[in-house]
Amino acid sequence: MGNAYKIAVLAGDAIGPEIMAQAVRVFDLLHTHRDHAFDLIEAPFGAHAYFSHGQSFPEETQAICDSADAILKGPVGLSFEDSQKIPPEEQAERGAILPLRARYQTFANFRPIYLSPDMAHFSPLKPEIIKDGIDILLIRELVGGLYFGPKERGVNAEGLRYVHETLAYDEAQIRRVLKVAFEQAQARSCRLHNIHKSNVLMSSLLWNEVLDEVREDFPSVEVIPMLVDAAATAMCLNPGQFDVMVMENMFGDILSDQGGGILGSLGLMPSACVGPDKAYYEPSHGSAPDIAGQNIANPYSMIGSVAMLLEMSCGLKEESELVWQAMKSVFEAGYTTADLKGGGSSANTVTTDVFGDLVIEKLDALLKA
Ligand code: IPM
Ligand code: MG
Repeated sequence: MGNAYKIAVLAGDAIGPEIMAQAVRVFDLLHTHRDHAFDLIEAPFGAHAYFSHGQSFPEETQAICDSADAILKGPVGLSFEDSQKIPPEEQAERGAILPLRARYQTFANFRPIYLSPDMAHFSPLKPEIIKDGIDILLIRELVGGLYFGPKERGVNAEGLRYVHETLAYDEAQIRRVLKVAFEQAQARSCRLHNIHKSNVLMSSLLWNEVLDEVREDFPSVEVIPMLVDAAATAMCLNPGQFDVMVMENMFGDILSDQGGGILGSLGLMPSACVGPDKAYYEPSHGSAPDIAGQNIANPYSMIGSVAMLLEMSCGLKEESELVWQAMKSVFEAGYTTADLKGGGSSANTVTTDVFGDLVIEKLDALLKA
């Protein structure tokens, strides 16, 4: 008898349901071959939830997430024009994603930036720069900084409209994410890039001060400090120098999309958002309303998010590795999805559900072996 897990499934908007349909197939296979029971509970979340329930993170969804062992979330949001039909505070970002992060205090956002040697041709970077692929773990603080600091808008004494957004952190918020980053670095190559902007921002001065305290518990980890602007360049010029990178929320938002850029597509960016008691898993990309319903979205980041969930919330490391292996083997066999360039002849470009079929077929074989 395997284990039993309750997973909240928030398919999301636009391409969300298409890529989620492929990702959840993995759970069926693990039930068949390993007898693990996954109770998948679908719940409304995002713009469609606003239209059906008047809230983009409805109370019933909150209750389902509260009682779940882990949450699997698809991308949410509508096109710019369609979003205007929703009041700003209920639009998917402010009304659903940020409240989800805040509710479970998912402070540590794991964003692997990974290309196997067989996927290296997807990168827009030259082969001599990519060498044997890319393998970076970007860790982004996810529930502090500008995203969650006090905000104010008004008209000042001179009659000018003004806005204040506050980059707020306390030392406990900084310490907990740095600790996670050091642990990851220690388990990988013992190198940690600390991304900061201490030449300008006071928040980075405190960040670096706390880092000096945390590092005392991790003497084997070498810390390489780098200014965030320089890091943006370095990721393009020499991505191989990075292993684990850690940074505050807004820096991480920007550099993780840069990560998708050096891979060749945000479609290759799964992620885990980990809190003290619960984690949720989501692609780092948006809901791509422009290609919704066409069966061309790349489900890799959604299936990769399942792989991360299996390892990090269910402790199923071996199964998780087999999911990665199955996805890599599809690319190794020469297949590609429409978002990925340089993948060979267009005859090998497969649809969302055919990519899913190929992954599932391979995973089935691996689980049987
Ligand atoms: C991400 C996204 C979100 C963010 C948006 C959708 C709120 O860009 O997860 O990177 O800015 O954090
Ligand atoms: Mg982003």
